[in-house]
Amino acid sequence: MASSSLPFDPARIAPEALPALIERCPKAELHIHIEGSLEPELIFELAQRNRVALPYASVEALRAAYAFTDLQSFLDIYYAGASVLLTEEDFEDMALAYFHRAAADGVVHAEVFFDPQTHTARGVPFATVMNGLTRAADIALGELGMSVSYILCFLRHLSEEDAFATLEEALPYRRHFIGVGLDSSERGHPPEKFARVFARCRELGLHIVAHAGEEGPPAYIEAALDVLKAERIDHGVRCLEDPALVARLARERVPLTVCPLSNLKLCVVPTLAAHPMKRLLDAGLVATVNSDDPAYFGGYLNRNFSETFGALPSLGVVEAWRLARNSMEASFLPVGTRRELGQQVDAFFAAAGG
Ligand code: HPA
Ligand code: ZN
Repeated sequence: MASSSLPFDPARIAPEALPALIERCPKAELHIHIEGSLEPELIFELAQRNRVALPYASVEALRAAYAFTDLQSFLDIYYAGASVLLTEEDFEDMALAYFHRAAADGVVHAEVFFDPQTHTARGVPFATVMNGLTRAADIALGELGMSVSYILCFLRHLSEEDAFATLEEALPYRRHFIGVGLDSSERGHPPEKFARVFARCRELGLHIVAHAGEEGPPAYIEAALDVLKAERIDHGVRCLEDPALVARLARERVPLTVCPLSNLKLCVVPTLAAHPMKRLLDAGLVATVNSDDPAYFGGYLNRNFSETFGALPSLGVVEAWRLARNSMEASFLPVGTRRELGQQVDAFFAAAGG
């Protein structure tokens, strides 16, 4: 018998069964930078195809450079890696590689960030980026049954004027993305810097998300909510420093797209055992698990789940169910689809321990 508040009886699921359950459970991924899915092997393949010189002698040498001390030390290498992307085919190949890995991890829906300024600044037209990504999304739906939506991210280390110019270039492709976000170097670049461009995006009916509270203070999360009107906060883990903010996020059911392996690799937390995932869930927050930049941080979605659950014994089957359900609730899918996917998660756990 299922208990009154859960669609399944947790006592009927053996702890040993949990890893396989998490792996196969339907999930949505809501915080993945497509440029962060570029594996070293593909970087070298594209460099050769496009005759781009790389400052690394081999795949191994490149991978060895992935020892980050903070967000900026990662971003420097991440932007260098993206320099091999030149043609529509490159963007399509990169995205398809991610979709195959995500589908293997049980991802049935992905909302995927892309950073057009990283490419347009190198002379790659916006159309090249968007056409390649769109083709890959069509293939993901047709061949993998995985739905994909794109979210255009503005780079916060650049000016608001540059963001406005990017939005202008993107408008002919408005139907190919559902929202806008804010990423790159957080400290010293508060949400307020982009108040006007996000206001324009809201007028255009775009969904709004923003990275906040990864390295930046809780005040950046508040500004993302109050100034940008963010519907979801990317990372957001530093909210825990401000109990009133935690209470607000819980009350307003603002989802946090949390990325445990990213937090570990960028030294936001010293160890995974110190990760606040359980505290976020216990506070009633709509927290989700995501991979952020999986090629750089050591794993795709299921690796984020397995390592986090492995490091935090307080996370069990109820939390696994809650995280999968949260991922559906936090998505920008139509409400009916969200409900249906939530029911699929319930049915999956009920079949395992009904
Ligand atoms: N934070 C900010 N910007 C980013 C990230 C991140 O984790 N990944 C890619 N761009
Ligand atoms: Zn991110």
